[in-house]
Amino acid sequence: MIQGGNGERDSFSSKFGVIAAAAGSAIGLGNIWRFPYVAGENGGGAFLLIYLIFIAAIGIPVMMSEFVIGRSAQLNPVGAFKKIAPGTKWHLIGLLGVVSAFIILAFYTVVAGWTLEYLLQSVKWAILSGKLGFSEMSNEALREFFTNHYEGFIAGIWRPVIWFVVMMAFTGYIVISGVKNGIEKYSKILMPVLFVLLIVLVIRSVTLEGARKGLIFLFKPDFSTIREAPMKIVIEALGQAFFSLSIGMGTLITYGSYIRKKENLASTAINVALADTFIAVVAGLAIFPAVFAFGINPGEGPELVYITLPVIFQNMAGGMLWAFMFFLLLCFAAITSTISVLEVIVAYFSEQLNMTRKRAALMAMISVGFLGILCTVSPDIFGIFNASPDLMLPLGGFFIVVFIGWILARDKTRKELSSEGTHTTGYFPLFNFLVKFVAPLAIALLFALGVYSRMIALFPSLG
Ligand code: TRP
Repeated sequence: MIQGGNGERDSFSSKFGVIAAAAGSAIGLGNIWRFPYVAGENGGGAFLLIYLIFIAAIGIPVMMSEFVIGRSAQLNPVGAFKKIAPGTKWHLIGLLGVVSAFIILAFYTVVAGWTLEYLLQSVKWAILSGKLGFSEMSNEALREFFTNHYEGFIAGIWRPVIWFVVMMAFTGYIVISGVKNGIEKYSKILMPVLFVLLIVLVIRSVTLEGARKGLIFLFKPDFSTIREAPMKIVIEALGQAFFSLSIGMGTLITYGSYIRKKENLASTAINVALADTFIAVVAGLAIFPAVFAFGINPGEGPELVYITLPVIFQNMAGGMLWAFMFFLLLCFAAITSTISVLEVIVAYFSEQLNMTRKRAALMAMISVGFLGILCTVSPDIFGIFNASPDLMLPLGGFFIVVFIGWILARDKTRKELSSEGTHTTGYFPLFNFLVKFVAPLAIALLFALGVYSRMIALFPSLG
């Protein structure tokens, strides 16, 4: 999929390859770890409703815009803006994306490392399950056991750091060695397996006693939760939508540059957005019924799935064997995402700064390594990094839609979307309206609200 060395640019080999790679980037910890806990903290159903509206009205247009920029320029985000808008400052948007990539990759790879810890622990738990007395424990006792384990793990220094470094090394290795025969091949098999496993989890979760409350929480919008903290909810829904779709920082500009000219960008974007949203909702369906059945607080925070899931597994015949499979697949889903973030930095370093891909990847890994270790030792830094996509990605997305809506000639956009007239673009007036007016205005407003609410959180006297 991605070029190996100098010389000719490589491209995705098939339509399915494009969707698999972009969906591989989109589907990851954002769907299974971040979505449930952010939705849980923000009241469930009402959050989900707003989230879905943002995906459709803002997310898909931004994704199509990134594809248009990347494929028409055939370059990394910085080079792409330099090429299509020469002599302007637009390439700074590409640079903002590269900076975001460092921050996101740092905390994301830390959480990806947690999957390795849980992978190892699930083997231990499976072997020692008799000795630990899992089967005699009540769900409360199990919940306490896994909460203590999570807290002990996070409070430690070495294990999180080691797993982070291992994950970083994997990611770098794949990006350096090219993706076509490795990750792309496996993701076509393993992503569907992950999906099947999630469905099995959903079945177990919704058939637990007391599961109904979780379904109500997730699907019945309770607007009083919005009234309590409207600004926080809307900005976090927007940030989560951007994060989950991998948009707003040039990942899909970079991937777009590897998409062949004949591919239909609109249908690719829609397919990816549908798959991504579907997986997030299914993850919610697996988590929330169990959360309520076990009496866990849905607003628990980042540890939500790491505590809830092991308790569900223990409630299934086969117990911790399921955990092993699940964390293996989750780890895989995370890697198809981390490589897409690292690829942004590597494409920029190698194309703009004339480095070899190997050198570019090594330099990126060392700097991200430093940031990531800061995240593992300081929960505060982790928190700041983890919250930063909520503002940084919409900011990038704002300029991307403004560029497509107001700067790039309309004919050029349409020509790119239609692959020189091969595909129909009957949706174009709607798309144009969304990128010109709806998306920029909505993002600007939400961004302002988001900044304001963060200021109030920092300096309460302002409110
Ligand atoms: N979307 C991925 C997830 O949900 C994370 C991710 C990959 C990402 N590439 C990105 C987020 C680019 C923002 C920007 O897990």
